[in-house]
Amino acid sequence: MNISINSDRLLAELHELARITDCPATEERSLPEPTQAVTRIVFTARDLEARAWLKSLAKGAGFSVRDDAVGNTFMRWEGTDPAAGVVGTGSHTDAIPHAGMYDGTVGVLGGLEALRSLKDSGFQPKRSLELLMFTSEEPTRFGIGCLGSRLLGGVMDAQSADELRDRLHETDPNAPEGLMLREVRHAAGFTGQLASVKLPANYFDAWVELHIEQGPLLERDKIQLGIVTNIAAPASYRYTVEGFGGHAGALLMPDRRDALCAAAEIILSVERHALAANARAKAEGLSGVDTVATVGMVAVHPGAVNSVPSRVQITLDIRDTEVSRRTSVMDALHADIRDVEQRRGVRVLEELINADQPAHSDPRIVAALEDTCREESASFRRMVSRAYHDTNFIAPIAPVAMLFIPCRNGVSHRPDEYATPEAIALGTRVLARTLAKLSIA
Ligand code: GLV
Ligand code: MN
Ligand code: MN
Repeated sequence: MNISINSDRLLAELHELARITDCPATEERSLPEPTQAVTRIVFTARDLEARAWLKSLAKGAGFSVRDDAVGNTFMRWEGTDPAAGVVGTGSHTDAIPHAGMYDGTVGVLGGLEALRSLKDSGFQPKRSLELLMFTSEEPTRFGIGCLGSRLLGGVMDAQSADELRDRLHETDPNAPEGLMLREVRHAAGFTGQLASVKLPANYFDAWVELHIEQGPLLERDKIQLGIVTNIAAPASYRYTVEGFGGHAGALLMPDRRDALCAAAEIILSVERHALAANARAKAEGLSGVDTVATVGMVAVHPGAVNSVPSRVQITLDIRDTEVSRRTSVMDALHADIRDVEQRRGVRVLEELINADQPAHSDPRIVAALEDTCREESASFRRMVSRAYHDTNFIAPIAPVAMLFIPCRNGVSHRPDEYATPEAIALGTRVLARTLAKLSIA
């Protein structure tokens, strides 16, 4: 099949999307390649602007467009057998504060370019091809990642989703407090029942997501493409440590129950147990790098230089390719937390946000991607995705795989995130040809 990707069009669109940002619209000229800092949080004016722009491109290319109740957008190219299971691709366009311009967007705009170039080449799919733009892959606003795909895959129930608290005020002092997802999505124009978002288990016959690697391995080993065989299982928690604080001069050391000192012990326990899990795995002959655990947010109350902290909130993000290993780290952490509570006279409340399963790619789709790489004479390797993706939550209802392209220095979630035009074009071409194969299977 002779498909030529219009990579100039794709690159221009990636840059156009990057300009829809809440970061000052200045190019960062200090960087080797001018890139734009991107903040595009779900259901903000910028996110809605990006959605409208994307939908106009998809309509212009002749695809039908629909939104579901949480704002996932489906852009469909009807196949000759419209009743057959769909072949899907896509990703997200929301971006965490001060992020880069390629995370998620390469999968959405690359997916659009893949479909458009197949159409331009005269290809006719048997199975319908759909491009999805998922709502809120990033956890910034509602505290949980992959909100739209969780609902599509039936991994989260509609009521608890609708009651998620809007946390925008934590990063934007002008944002109102006390809202829930239900109110925010309604205000953005998505008013249906969330229960209607879940897709039937046979909706997709195949699913492929194109994404930047977000790690350094492909670039370091000079490999052009990564074919994801499994996605590490993510979990996240929020802890509130309640102690006894007061005046930093007058509250004497024996009388304190400093919530921040207690939280500090817990943070170091997280690191210690993750390292120990890796060391045990290594001793068993495994890679010894599969457990990762991060405390990325600390909120100290009252947060004054001369006040002993009385309450601290921390977040925990923990991921592993093996759920049992993740559980063993959590068991050890829980024992340490009980010990900290006793020794320090504090109370630690745990809130589970999500504890997900790993995703495993389907051998048929992996084989289709590998065949296409060979046809394109592109070097490739099988790899683990240690970042989570919407594909995690499509996996329960569809055979899935992912295709990674390298990104400079493995950097992501930063304005200097960068993928070369050649890598983007190659990833898009391999995606297009693979979707074409899957759509006539
Ligand atoms: C996705 O953004 C992740 O944190 O893996
Ligand atoms: Mn991201
Ligand atoms: Mn992403």
